[in-house]
Amino acid sequence: MYYTEGLPVPETPSPGETPGPWERTDVVGKPRPRVDAYERVSGTAVYPSDIVLPRMLYGAILRCPHPHAQVKKVDTTAAEAPPRVRAVIGPGDPKTDLPWSFRDVKTTLFPKTCRFEGEPVAAVAAETLYQAWDAAGAVRVDYKVLPHVSDERRALEKDAPKVHENGNKLKTDTYSRGDVEKGFFEADVVLEQHYRTEAEVHTPLELHGCVANWDGDVLTIWESTQGVYAVQSRVAEVLGLPLSKVRVIGHYMGGGFGSKLQTSRYSIVAALLAKKTGRPVKSFLPREATFLAMGNRPPSNMTLKAGVKKDGTLTALSFTCLGTGGAYPAGGTSLVDWQIRDLYLCPHVRTECTDVYINAGPARPFRAPGHPQCSWALEQMLDALAEAIGMDPVALRLKNVPDYSQGREGNPPYTTTGLKQCFKEGARRFGWEKARRKTAGQEKKGHLRRGVGMAGSVWFVGGGGPPSTVILKLFSDGSANLNMGASDIGTGTKTVMAMVAAEELGLRPEMIRIEHADTGTTQYATPSGGSKTVPTEAPTVRDAAVQVKRRLLQMAAEEMDLPVEDLRYTGDDIVSRSRPDRRIRIVDISGLKRQGVVVGVGHRGPNPEKKTVNPFCAQFCEVEVNTRTGELRILRFLSTNESGRVMNRLTFDSQVIGGVTMGIGLAATEMRILDANRTGKMVNRNWHDYKLPTSLDVPADIVGVPIEMPDAEANISGAKGLGEPVTIPTAAAVANAVYDAVGIRITESPINPLKLSSLLEQQKKEG
Ligand code: MOS
Repeated sequence: MYYTEGLPVPETPSPGETPGPWERTDVVGKPRPRVDAYERVSGTAVYPSDIVLPRMLYGAILRCPHPHAQVKKVDTTAAEAPPRVRAVIGPGDPKTDLPWSFRDVKTTLFPKTCRFEGEPVAAVAAETLYQAWDAAGAVRVDYKVLPHVSDERRALEKDAPKVHENGNKLKTDTYSRGDVEKGFFEADVVLEQHYRTEAEVHTPLELHGCVANWDGDVLTIWESTQGVYAVQSRVAEVLGLPLSKVRVIGHYMGGGFGSKLQTSRYSIVAALLAKKTGRPVKSFLPREATFLAMGNRPPSNMTLKAGVKKDGTLTALSFTCLGTGGAYPAGGTSLVDWQIRDLYLCPHVRTECTDVYINAGPARPFRAPGHPQCSWALEQMLDALAEAIGMDPVALRLKNVPDYSQGREGNPPYTTTGLKQCFKEGARRFGWEKARRKTAGQEKKGHLRRGVGMAGSVWFVGGGGPPSTVILKLFSDGSANLNMGASDIGTGTKTVMAMVAAEELGLRPEMIRIEHADTGTTQYATPSGGSKTVPTEAPTVRDAAVQVKRRLLQMAAEEMDLPVEDLRYTGDDIVSRSRPDRRIRIVDISGLKRQGVVVGVGHRGPNPEKKTVNPFCAQFCEVEVNTRTGELRILRFLSTNESGRVMNRLTFDSQVIGGVTMGIGLAATEMRILDANRTGKMVNRNWHDYKLPTSLDVPADIVGVPIEMPDAEANISGAKGLGEPVTIPTAAAVANAVYDAVGIRITESPINPLKLSSLLEQQKKEG
C-alpha cells in the first residue's frame, strides 16, 4: 500500500488547535535523495531554457557597449531587411516607451541615456538564434559617449562624472547605540583597519531568460526565476494587464542565488516581440550579458575600529562602509553592517554606510546580501583582537555570544540560538586546539605553511513567514498531490515538502506528486530567497496535511457513527480509541471514494511576536600557503550550522558544500574588473577570465555539522534557513587561516597568487 504501515503518525490536533512540535520523525530529518533526482541527472528535466514551442522565434537584445552614453539615434532599417527577421523594436517604437524603474528611479525599457554597459537599446526577433543576433548587430545606433565613473572610491570626488543629474550620492544610512567614544575609552586594546571586498558577478549555470507566448489576450511566460508570482506582478504592472491574464511558469531553475528574484527587462521585451509577431519568442541572454546586466555582489570599502578589554569583553565597534549598487538604486550597502550590529554582544556601536552610483550594472541580492562583506571585516578584526589580548579566537567569540537581537528595536530575544554550540561543537569536531598548537609550532623553514582559521555568523532573515497557501489533495487510492507556488531553486524544496506531507500523513514520500511554481495552476507563494523557503513552506504544507487528516476523521466519524474525538488517524487507517477493534482503512472511507479526493488547504501561520527567528553558523578551515608561488590550497572545511530542525540531511549537506564553495570564490578567486581609467568596460566577462571556484579550488573535505535544535516557537516545522548563513563566514575564515599560516593579514579580497606572492615578497624584504 502507499502508507508507511506501522510507523507512528503525529496526533491530529482538533480544529482551531495549532499542531505542536513533532515529538519524533520517521521521514523528516532522514537523508533522502531528491524527488526529481532522476530528471535532473538524466537531463530529462525541462528547464525554462529547454522550452521549445511550435513556430517559436528567437529574440536578441542589443545592449549599449559603453558605460555611459546618450542614445541619439537608432536606425533599424538594416536589421529589418534580411528575410527571416520578424520584428525589430527600439526606443522610437511607441509601444516600447514603457516605464521601467529601479526602485524609485524611473527610466524606460530602452532608455535615452544608458548608464551602464549592457543597458538594452533595441531588440529583434528572427527565425533562428543566429539570424536574431545578426539582425541585432545590424541595428545602427548613434551614441554620444559620456564620461564615466567606474570606481565607487572616486564617485564622490568633485570632478567625478555624474551618473544621475543630481549627483552620485544615493544615501547614507547610520545606526548607533550607546556611546562608542566611551566604549573605546573603556577598552584595553583598540584596533582600526580598512577592508575591501571586490564585486562578485552573478553567473548562474542556467542563463537568465524566458519564453513568452500569447494565447489571445493571455500571456504565458516560462521563466528561469526564483519566484513566479513576483514575475507575474511586475509583468502585469508594466504591460497594464490584469494578473489573471499573465501566467508565469518556472518548474526548474538552474541557479539564481538572488539574481533571479526580480523581473528583468528581457521578459517585457520577449512579451512585446511575441505580441508584435503573433508567435512565441524565446529570449535568453548570452553569458556575456549576464556578467554585465544580471547583478552582482557589490564591492565594499569598510573601516572597522574595535575595542576590547583584556578579558575579551567587546566594548565598542565603529564601522563605516562605502558601497555601490551600480548605476541605479540596487542595495549597494544593503545589510553590510548587520553583523556589526547583531552578531556579538557590544554596548557601544556606530555604523555609517554610504551608497553611491557608478556606471556599472546594478547589483542584485547575492546569497546573503551584505553579510559576507561584513564578515570579512568583523571576523578578521576579532582574530586580530584575540591575538592582541592573547586569547584564543574561539574563546573570544564565546565570551560575546548574545541570546537576543541587539540590532533590532526593543532587543527581541531569538526564538533559539545555537551560536555557542556552533563554536563549541565546531571546535571540537575540527580539532581546533590541537590544530592551532600544530600550526603555531610548525617549522618556519619549509615553503609550505599551514594555518587554521575560523569565523561565525548570524543571518538577518532565515525565519520565513506568511503569506503562503498550499493545497494538498488526497486521492481515493491514498496517493496525494501537493500544490504549491514556491520555486525549488535547486535546494531541494520539493523533496523537503514531500517529506513533510509524508511525515504528517504516514504516507510514503514517493506517493506524493508535487505541482509547483505556476501562477496559472498553483497557490500563491513569495519568491524563494532569503533562506526562508523551508521555514515558510514547510509549516504551510504541514498545516494542509493536518486539514486532510481532520477531514478524513470527520468522514470516518460519520461513517462509523462514533464521535470524532474518539478517532485517531494512524496512517493507513482510522481507529477508535475506546474500541480499538473498530477501525476503517483510509481507502475504504466511503466519503473519500464518493468524492474522489479530499482536499486540505494549508496556510502559513504568523511568526512569534516580540521574538526574532535567525539561523547561526560557525566555520573552521585549514589551509596551506606555498610561500614560493603565493598559491593557496584549502585543505579542509567544517561548517557548523544551527538552522533549527534539519529537514533532510542530504539537502542540508548540499547547502553546506555549495555555500562554502561560493564563499571560497569571494575569498580567493572572484572579482569583477572594470577598465576604470579608460573605457569603463568590464574586461573579464567570461568564465575563463572571471574565475569561479572549481573542484580544484575547493577541498573535497567539506563537512557539515548540524547543531540540531528544532525551534518550537519559530513555526510548526521547527526549521530555520540554511542556504545563506552557510556562505557568510567562509571568506573570513580563509583569510584568518592565511594569517595563521604566514602572518599576513589580507584585508582586500581575493587572496589570489598575484596578491599573496607580492605580500610575501614584501614581508621578506621587511624581514
Ligand atoms: Mo537570496 S540572495 O535571498 O536568493
